[in-house]
Amino acid sequence: MSESFRILLGSLPDFPDELPDFDPELAPADPVELFRQWFAEALAAGVPQPNACSVATADEIGRPSSRMLILKDIDDDGWHFATSRNSRKGRELGANPHAALNFFWQQQGRQVRVAGDVVALSAEASAADWDARPGADGSQNPGWQLYAVRPRELEFWQARQDRRHIRHRYGPR
Ligand SMILES: Cc1cc2nc3c(=O)[nH]c(=O)nc-3n(C[C@H](O)[C@H](O)[C@H](O)COP(=O)(O)O)c2cc1C
Repeated sequence: MSESFRILLGSLPDFPDELPDFDPELAPADPVELFRQWFAEALAAGVPQPNACSVATADEIGRPSSRMLILKDIDDDGWHFATSRNSRKGRELGANPHAALNFFWQQQGRQVRVAGDVVALSAEASAADWDARPGADGSQNPGWQLYAVRPRELEFWQARQDRRHIRHRYGPR
């Protein structure tokens, strides 16, 4: 059973035959601009929910946890996501305000990693986000919190069929 599972895992295909080109030499100096380009290309390629990313947090002694969340915006505050302050991740961010996001767009063999400090945005912005959710019924949720990750480092990763995968980093080495 475990042997056949191992073989099954190893036999699955990875990326499609056709992958987009990416020349880091031509990448914009601003990583947000590159993210917007890649995001538009993900949409055009039919990637489902390209705005979904995994968000990793850690508790006060560094034990990690991760889950999928929706990217809400990118502005001068950082990369926004929203959740309940009373959730596990909300509690972890209260004790240890750092997070790492990871976007994976399989159809294009692309991954975008973003990590940095996290700030809690205003009650007004959080309430506006709660109101804008699909299915919002005008009720309030004082526990809802909009956060922003201020990137310290970002990495854009492009798979290639020849397996010479490309990594393009922004931030400290
Ligand atoms: C694609 C996807 C998007 C999600 N988006 C959100 C979100 O934006 N905010 C949120 O609180 N939970 C979202 N969830 C649920 C979280 O993954 C998670 O289960 C929940 O927030 C509890 O996480 P925690 O116990 O680690 O705090 C999403 C789940 C999936 C699969």
